[in-house]
Amino acid sequence: MNAIPAYEIVPDSPEHSAAVEALYDDVFGPGRFAKTAERLREGNSAIADASLVAIDSDGLTGVVRVWPVKVGGSDGQGGGRAAFLGPIAVAERRRGNGVAFKLMERAIGVCREQGYAAVILVGDHEYYERFGFHPAGDGRFQLPGPVDQKRVLIRDLSDRAAKLKGELSVPR
Ligand SMILES: CC(C)(COP(=O)(O)OP(=O)(O)OC[C@H]1O[C@@H](n2cnc3c(N)ncnc32)[C@H](O)[C@@H]1OP(=O)(O)O)[C@@H](O)C(=O)NCCC(=O)NCCS
Repeated sequence: MNAIPAYEIVPDSPEHSAAVEALYDDVFGPGRFAKTAERLREGNSAIADASLVAIDSDGLTGVVRVWPVKVGGSDGQGGGRAAFLGPIAVAERRRGNGVAFKLMERAIGVCREQGYAAVILVGDHEYYERFGFHPAGDGRFQLPGPVDQKRVLIRDLSDRAAKLKGELSVPR
């Protein structure tokens, strides 16, 4: 069996920006900016240390970005902050080697260390349930655009997660 070439996971930083954008373009195509989740990234700043890249001898091979979001609103109900994860992408040449698994585990761990009550994302439950994500529940969170509510998933990181509900927005 061939040995899996080594890679390391390090915090994302501006020096990786061009390679990250190229990988996202490759994996998701130009339509990626039209996604509802993108509205929670625009004008936002990724959470340092929870946003990670994987690097091997050929360069950037994977990335996950995580964003702070405000949850709930002015009525004082369901208010709080959560981490919003995505996108995650791994270069085709490295898929199936556990790169995404390591990126996810570490990103979730950093969010917990930083005191986030939960991580929220939009994605396939079948894939993300291995990291403890479950469907948030129909209508519990509203995103700034259309979204399939079955794909809105949450991973609780503390007891405070149960109280989160309402609109997700970029913290101001
Ligand atoms: C999803 C993705 C990040 C996984 O990266 P990876 O490094 O290959 O993941 P891992 O090696 O940790 O895990 C691979 C496993 O996940 C499974 N998997 C991948 N995508 C899946 C999905 N959408 N649903 C269910 N399982 C999925 C693979 O079949 C594989 O299963 P196995 O462990 O039983 O063989 C990568 O396939 C990718 O970049 N896909 C395109 C972008 C994408 O869909 N991103 C997620 C949505 S934002």
